[in-house]
Amino acid sequence: MAIYIYIYIYNYHHLIHNQFLSFTFLSPLSMPKPYYSLFAVFIILVTCHAQTDSNTSAACASSNCGNISIGYPFWKKSDTNVGEFCGYPEFGLECSDDQAIIKFPTDTYQVADINYDVRSITLLDIDVLDQPCPRARHNVSLQNLPLSFSSLDLNLSFYFNCSSYPASVEHIKCMQQHDKNQSYVFLAGDEVKNGYGWVRQCDEHVVVTVKQEEIDGTNLITGFGDAMKKGFVLDWVSAKDCAACEDSDGYCRYNHTTKQSSCLCRDGRTVAKSCKKGTL
Ligand SMILES: *[C@@H]1O[C@H](CO)[C@@H](O)[C@H](O)[C@H]1NC(C)=O
Ligand SMILES: *[C@@H]1O[C@H](CO)[C@@H](O)[C@H](O)[C@H]1NC(C)=O
Ligand SMILES: *[C@@H]1O[C@H](CO)[C@@H](O)[C@H](O)[C@H]1NC(C)=O
Ligand SMILES: *[C@@H]1O[C@H](CO)[C@@H](O)[C@H](O)[C@H]1NC(C)=O
Ligand SMILES: *[C@@H]1O[C@H](CO)[C@@H](O)[C@H](O)[C@H]1NC(C)=O
Ligand SMILES: *[C@@H]1O[C@H](CO)[C@@H](O)[C@H](O)[C@H]1NC(C)=O
Ligand SMILES: *[C@@H]1O[C@H](CO)[C@@H](O)[C@H](O)[C@H]1NC(C)=O
Repeated sequence: MAIYIYIYIYNYHHLIHNQFLSFTFLSPLSMPKPYYSLFAVFIILVTCHAQTDSNTSAACASSNCGNISIGYPFWKKSDTNVGEFCGYPEFGLECSDDQAIIKFPTDTYQVADINYDVRSITLLDIDVLDQPCPRARHNVSLQNLPLSFSSLDLNLSFYFNCSSYPASVEHIKCMQQHDKNQSYVFLAGDEVKNGYGWVRQCDEHVVVTVKQEEIDGTNLITGFGDAMKKGFVLDWVSAKDCAACEDSDGYCRYNHTTKQSSCLCRDGRTVAKSCKKGTL
C-alpha cells in the first residue's frame, strides 16, 4: 500500500507539473479501511495512465524562469539546442537573470505572468520599466501572432511633443521640457471629445495598453506611469497549424530546420496533424 501511495504521489506531482490534469487529492489516511482496495485500483489506473503519458511529458516538460513557469505553448529558448520544441514558434522565451523575455517583431517584453487556465499572458514593456516618467516608444503590434487583447485591458492614447494645444487640457508635467512643447495622455477615444487636431500638432501618437484595474480616470496624468509598470494582458488562441493537434489532445511541435509543425501524441507517436484515430 505504501508503495502505491508513493507511486501515486509521484505521478500526481509529475502530472500536475505538466498541467495534464488537476484534481483534489483525497488523503488516504482519512479513508475508511474498506475503501483501501478501491483506492489501490484507482492508483493503478492513474499509474498506468501516467506511464503512457511519460514520453510526451518528458518531451514537452515545462521549466521555470524565476517566478514564471514556462510550459506549452511557450518554451524556453535555452532548452532547445535540439532544433525542435513543443510550442508555438513565436512563443519562445529567453530567460536572463531570472526574467522571462518574449520578443515580438517590433518590441521586447518582460513576461510578468502566464495563466494556463484562462490562457493569458501579462507583459511589461522593457523600455518603460525603470523610468519614473515612462515615454512609450511603440504601439503594441500583434500582427499575425496567435494573441489578442484581453477584455481586462484599456488603451491610453499619448501625444508627444505637441507644439500647439488647447490651454484647457492638462498636460503631462513630468514630460515638460524647457521649450513650449507639451505632451498629453487620454483614455483612448477621449481625445476626440474636445475636437482638437492632436495628430497634426504633435510629433508622435502612441497607443499604450494597460490593465483597466490600474487606471483611475481621475489621476491619469500622474498615474499612467505606475499603470504601465503593471503591464497588460493578452489572450492566446490555438496557432492555426496546431488546432487539429491540440483538439486531439496532442502537443504541437515545431522543427526549426524544416519550419514544419508536427503533433506529439500522448502515446508517444509523432504524427503530422492530429492524434485522432483514422487521421494522420
Ligand atoms: C516573484 O514574484 C514576487 C511577487 O509576485 C515578486 O515580488 C518578485 O520580484 C518576483 N521575482 C522575480 C525574480 O521576478
Ligand atoms: C527536423 O527535421 C529534419 C528533416 O526532416 C530532421 O532531419 C531532424 O531530425 C528534425 N529535428 C529533430 C530534432 O527532430
Ligand atoms: C486597444 O488597441 C488595440 C490596437 O489598436 C485594439 O485592438 C484593442 O481592441 C484596444 N483595446 C481596447 C480595450 O479598446
Ligand atoms: C520632444 O522632442 C525633443 C527633440 O526632438 C526630444 O528630445 C524629446 O525627448 C521629445 N519629448 C518627448 C516627450 O517625446
Ligand atoms: C516640438 O514639437 C515639434 C513637433 O510637434 C518638433 O518638430 C520640435 O522639434 C519640438 N521642439 C523641441 C525643442 O523639442
Ligand atoms: C499608433 O497607433 C495609432 C492608431 O491606433 C496611430 O495613429 C499612430 O500613428 C501609431 N503610432 C506609431 C508610433 O506607430
Ligand atoms: C515512447 O516513444 C517511442 C517512440 O518514440 C515508442 O516506441 C514507445 O512505445 C513510447 N513509449 C510509451 C510508453 O508510449
